[in-house]
Amino acid sequence: MFELKLEKSWYDAIFKRSSVRRFTGAPDKAQLDRLGDLCRKVSWQGITVRMFKGPGLKSMIKGTDVYAIVVAKRGTPMELEGFMGEALVLEATSMGLGTCWLGMGYYPDIINRNVSLKNDEVIHCVIALGKCDLPEPKHKRRDLKKLCGMDENELAAVGEWQKEAVVCARLAPSAVNLQPWTIAVEKSGIAILEANTIYKKYAALDRGICMLHAAVGAYHAGREAVWKKVEGGYAMRA
Ligand SMILES: Cc1cc2nc3c(=O)[nH]c(=O)nc-3n(C[C@H](O)[C@H](O)[C@H](O)COP(=O)(O)O)c2cc1C
Repeated sequence: MFELKLEKSWYDAIFKRSSVRRFTGAPDKAQLDRLGDLCRKVSWQGITVRMFKGPGLKSMIKGTDVYAIVVAKRGTPMELEGFMGEALVLEATSMGLGTCWLGMGYYPDIINRNVSLKNDEVIHCVIALGKCDLPEPKHKRRDLKKLCGMDENELAAVGEWQKEAVVCARLAPSAVNLQPWTIAVEKSGIAILEANTIYKKYAALDRGICMLHAAVGAYHAGREAVWKKVEGGYAMRA
């Protein structure tokens, strides 16, 4: 599980990405084709990601009517929705497109009708996609020290791939920017674990996004992540 061929370009995308809610247009045909390819690549292990064009997004999203839907088979860990969906987000960012994860910003009745969900399928989030002038990212996130107990130098002393993984994980987007994770760092690997949070609805999905960022960071340092379920989250060796 959480197996995915990562792209080198996703590393830079992590630093460029921030949520976009005002777009200058829908992606063009060539961009939609490329996003469609990525949807096929991330649609497995109980997840299907599909592109749509038309109504469904609430008015907080302006300038595009294109979005991706992350459909999960019941029983699939919610982390996998975040992991695969964020791959689409980073691919779109690397193409110069804007994105915004939406838990509340869409009309479930319209979208459920479009998708004709099977009984054993659920949708928790969609992702708005479109052309934009990518904003300068602000990345308001917890300090590294608070996140994992180490600063960048201390992380580098543990290992280059652990440092890259944590630096990238820290920048992951999350619902209401709650960052509902803590990161445990050891020589043998890192673990992304539940943090205390009052709003748990998307916490597991958020952690999946964080895991994809960590995997991309490790890959940038020449390592491939292997994930294992542990108490309270997932541990990565690379
Ligand atoms: C699972 C999830 C659900 C989200 N739902 C919404 C939403 O309904 N409306 C919205 O405007 N932003 C939504 N966001 C975007 C977050 O508010 C945003 O990622 C966070 O504030 C961090 O800011 P950044 O993405 O610009 O780095 C969501 C993000 C995630 C990961």
